Amino acid sequence: MKNEVKNAIRHLVTKAYEVFATNKSDVSVISLPGSVWEFETSVINHKDYADNFGKPYNLDMALVECDTKEYQNNLIPLSTLFPHNKVSAYVLSRDNVTYDNLYANEGTVKKAKSNNIFAWFDFCGNPTTQNLNLVNTAIGKNVTYIFTFNTHWRCSTNVNETVLKFAEYSNKPFAIHAYLKALADALQLTVVWSFEYVSNQNPMITVCLSNDANILADSSLRYNNMKIDKKINLVKSNKITKIKTIKRDLSAVYTDVKAGIDKNTVCAKHNVTVGTFAAVKAWITMGK
Ligand SMILES: C[S@@+](CC[C@H](N)C(=O)[O-])C[C@H]1O[C@@H](n2cnc3c(N)ncnc32)[C@H](O)[C@@H]1O
Repeated sequence: MKNEVKNAIRHLVTKAYEVFATNKSDVSVISLPGSVWEFETSVINHKDYADNFGKPYNLDMALVECDTKEYQNNLIPLSTLFPHNKVSAYVLSRDNVTYDNLYANEGTVKKAKSNNIFAWFDFCGNPTTQNLNLVNTAIGKNVTYIFTFNTHWRCSTNVNETVLKFAEYSNKPFAIHAYLKALADALQLTVVWSFEYVSNQNPMITVCLSNDANILADSSLRYNNMKIDKKINLVKSNKITKIKTIKRDLSAVYTDVKAGIDKNTVCAKHNVTVGTFAAVKAWITMGK
């Protein structure tokens, strides 16, 4: 596919997969192939190589697609005379590969056979609560989760409330980064990389979270260029009053969140929403 940047992202994800799978006896993969099944094919190739020339391992792969038309389009080759012409057919013909017409959800992760889960949540859409909170499925597992979101949404109705609020103090990519970082910290996951890129003229962010020893040991995967662009707040003069007000109002909340007082107590005491609590927590996590 002729999209240099997206190709590079796929290469990075594939490289991370190879690092993750090294010396493991079993791996579960979760992915959203859309119409380009290159990553999924490379996973199959990696297993075939390991089985034939290296250290064999068990693999299961759960693929999901929420768009019914796209889903059906990827199934069609299975019933044609020349299924090998389409990579989806090649991947789907393999053992332990499932493909479901649904939204990625907790159940997708629960059905993973292995405790070693490598997931590429290549959403490329808005950061919805359901999609962001998939991080929480990492509890008790050895994971590498890679998320991709759009960072320039026009319509924000489905954007997570905390991200939306936090984006007002900072900017959209940083808000997504901070939200995922706060969740990651709570689950003792490390942010391996976090950066923006432009694909087909759409600005995106990719964030990789992991607690896997192989991934954490590989410094070549580390890249984080997320910074708060303070200028954004300064130039948007119509927002300055609002920011000042929020800062004044939230100072007591900051103190309590910093002191480790639990969410329900803080929200009730200061009459703030869970979204505001999470925004403050994210802000503190980022060392602000
Ligand atoms: C960006 S594309 C995937 C691209 C592919 N990974 C690649 O390497 O080019 C995302 C695909 O996932 C689907 N999708 C988006 N959000 C989803 C969700 N929450 N659950 C399941 N599928 C989703 C979209 O319909 C689309 O086909």
